[in-house]
This record gives sequence, C-alpha cells and structure tokens, in this order.
Amino acid sequence: MPLTLDEVREQDRQDPLAPFRSRFALPQGTIYLDGNSLGAQPSAAVGAVDGLMAQWRDSLIQGWNQGWFDAPERLGDRLAPLLGAAPGEVLVTDTITHNIFKLLGYIVEGQGITEGQERARPVILSEGGNFPTDGYIAQGFCRFGGFEHRVVPEGEALDTYLDARVAAVVLSQVHYRTGRLRDMAAITRQVHASGAEVIWDLAHSAGALPVDLTACGVRYAVGCSYKYLNGGPGAPAFLYVRHDCQGQAWQPLSGWLGHAAPFAFEADYDPAPGISRFRTGTHSPLAFAALEASLTLWQEVDLGQLRRKSQRLIELFRESLSDCLGEHGISDITPEEAQRGSQVGLVEREHGYAIVQALIARGVIGDYREPGLMRFGFAPLYLSHEDVWRAAQHLREVLAEGEYLALRFQQRGAVT
Ligand SMILES: Cc1ncc(COP(=O)(O)O)c(C=O)c1O
Repeated sequence: MPLTLDEVREQDRQDPLAPFRSRFALPQGTIYLDGNSLGAQPSAAVGAVDGLMAQWRDSLIQGWNQGWFDAPERLGDRLAPLLGAAPGEVLVTDTITHNIFKLLGYIVEGQGITEGQERARPVILSEGGNFPTDGYIAQGFCRFGGFEHRVVPEGEALDTYLDARVAAVVLSQVHYRTGRLRDMAAITRQVHASGAEVIWDLAHSAGALPVDLTACGVRYAVGCSYKYLNGGPGAPAFLYVRHDCQGQAWQPLSGWLGHAAPFAFEADYDPAPGISRFRTGTHSPLAFAALEASLTLWQEVDLGQLRRKSQRLIELFRESLSDCLGEHGISDITPEEAQRGSQVGLVEREHGYAIVQALIARGVIGDYREPGLMRFGFAPLYLSHEDVWRAAQHLREVLAEGEYLALRFQQRGAVT
C-alpha cells in the first residue's frame, strides 16, 4: 500500500540524518537523484575553495608547505574510516582509471618473473558489462605490458576463468548499471585462494553503504570521490593498498611525487615507502580543498543509519511506482535489499532517455545509460522521504500524460 504524503513527512521527522540536508546547497525545486554520478555540493566546499584561492594569492608557492603537498595522504586518512581501512592505507590521487593501471603494474611486478622464464601468470581478467574504463585500462595494460586480457562474460561465474594463469582480476563491488552488490569477502577469498589478486572498484559503494575492506580481506581497491562522497566535479580518486602489501614493488607510473625524495631531484627512481609511492605528478590543491570540506562532514555520518535510510528511500520509490510501471513497458531491474547498492534501475528501451529528460524538465534529475536504463541514485544525506515520494509522483505523471513523447525530450546532449 503506497504511503501518503503525511506518512512520508512523519518519516522525515523521525529521520536521524535529516539535519545533514541543510549542509548541502541544492537548487530550489530540484529533487536530485543523480548523486551516484555527481554528488551535490556541500555548502562548506565553497568556503574551502575560496580559502584556497586566498591562500594561493597570499602564500604563493609557500602554500605547498602549508598543507597542499601532503593532502593526498591526509585526505586518504580522512577517507579510511569510511572504507574500513587504517591510516596509511588510502591515498587520494589521480583517477580510478590511472589507479587501476598503477595497481595492475604493482601487482604483477610483485608477483615477479625469473630472468629468461615465461610469466607463470600472464592473464588479467576483467568483467563484461562493468564500467568500461575498468576493461579498457586492463586492455591497455595488457597491450603494452605483454599480458593477455580475458573477459568474464556478464552473468557468468568467475570460477571457470580463475585458473592458475590469472595474475589479477578487476571487479566492481556495486555494478554501475544494475546496482548489484557483490559479496566482496567471499569473492576476495576465492580469488586469493587461486593465487591471484583482485582490485575492487568502489565507485558505487564508497559513501553509498558501509564498506569494510579490512573485514573483507581486501588487499587492493580504487574508487572515486565525486559521486556519493560529494568531492565535486572531477574530484580526485583514491586507491587502497593494505599495509602488509605495501613496499613490495614499483608501480608503473613512477612519477616524481611517488619518489622517496622528490626534491632531491635524483636521476633514478626510488619509490617512496608506504602508500606515497602511488603518487604520480602534481595534484590540484583546489580540488582537494573541496573534497576535504566534504570529508570533514562525512566524519559525522553514521554509516549504519546511512544504509538503513538508503534502503528505505529505495523501497519508498519502488512501492510508489509498483502499480504503474508494467502498463508502460518499464521493468524494474533493482536487486533485492541485501544485494544492492544505493540506486534504482528502470529499463525502457525505446523511451528511457526521453523519460529521464521529461523528469529533468520537472526538476527531478536522474540519468540514463544505454541501452534503455534510467538510473536513480539515492544519497541519504540530502534526500528526504518527501523528495522521493514526490519524484515518484512526477514519474507517474510523465508516464500517464505521455509527456516524454515531446520532440524536445528526444535530443541528446554529450553527457547523458
Ligand atoms: C564503476 C566505475 N569505475 C570508474 C569510473 C570512472 O573513473 P574515472 O573517471 O575516475 O577514471 C566510473 C564513473 O562513473 C564508474 O562508475
């Protein structure tokens, strides 16, 4: 039985996370269901970026000794509790794309090769249907590193592909299209038992649900900060290497800031100890300032409450629509509770894109991924139950009135 507006308002009154909403700047009249692509702006980020600009103006190059230089490690430590990681295990740096490449190189270098012998483990596995950059970078890595790239077709079990020739596997904890949440602990055990390593992509789990890398036995992971973590457009990504796996090898993007003594300007590369060797070149303190403001806010978040609210919002949205999707040829591909991240996926192959555009025109922002997938992300820090209830009503009206058939909703922008 769908809830009434009074009932959802009561849920908002009882919501322990409700006070966070006032700490985000969202445009009036917007219901933002795209925090799984680009998170909303924490109000504190504006002051932080302004402060950074003033520091640049006043301190000039001395800013590097006033907190800019060590920001990748400092923010990594801020992020660590959200990932179930310890201080010194997370570095905020580069993009997911770069970080997967670095970790692949680090892993295979650590596995070693004896002079004049064939590599015992020449295969890198990635999963079909994953976010493309994970597969693309595995392909590039294999092409230039003399490895063989193999793909586990979407929906097939890893077992068949995980043989003694596999060096590393790249997998997502939460799938970007379906929102399916994997059993990270069980799969990590399985991969390690085969003698391979796994790099987990946490793009759709960090800040979306409690992640416990330590408890899951994870050794290597990457993720981004611009989605659920609200770091801002193009905010730096992060990389995780468990303490006991650090210091074993070079990473392949052996840039000067990953050197043990970057300002010694030595001729030869000498990797820094600890997580710092995964640094590459100069980062942007501006981007770090915005992210630091967001991570400061995130220190106050109870991840158990976050998870419970995320799941309640998803159920509210789905229940409010359950009686009308079928008649419009829309299928709900959202996995059931224990097996999902924080998004809803609705598929309508012919009109999915236009339906999302019609919703955006009404101030309800979701996004679209080919083929036919309408994605709605649920970020519990700035979404109320009333927002979600209203978003579902808008979608009902867009469908009932055939609003999406208007010509203006058929035209595509570069970013969907
Ligand atoms: C699962 C996943 N991996 C990687 C990326 C992109 O990574 P980046 O642009 O930071 O390299 C995305 C972006 O949406 C993603 O969803």
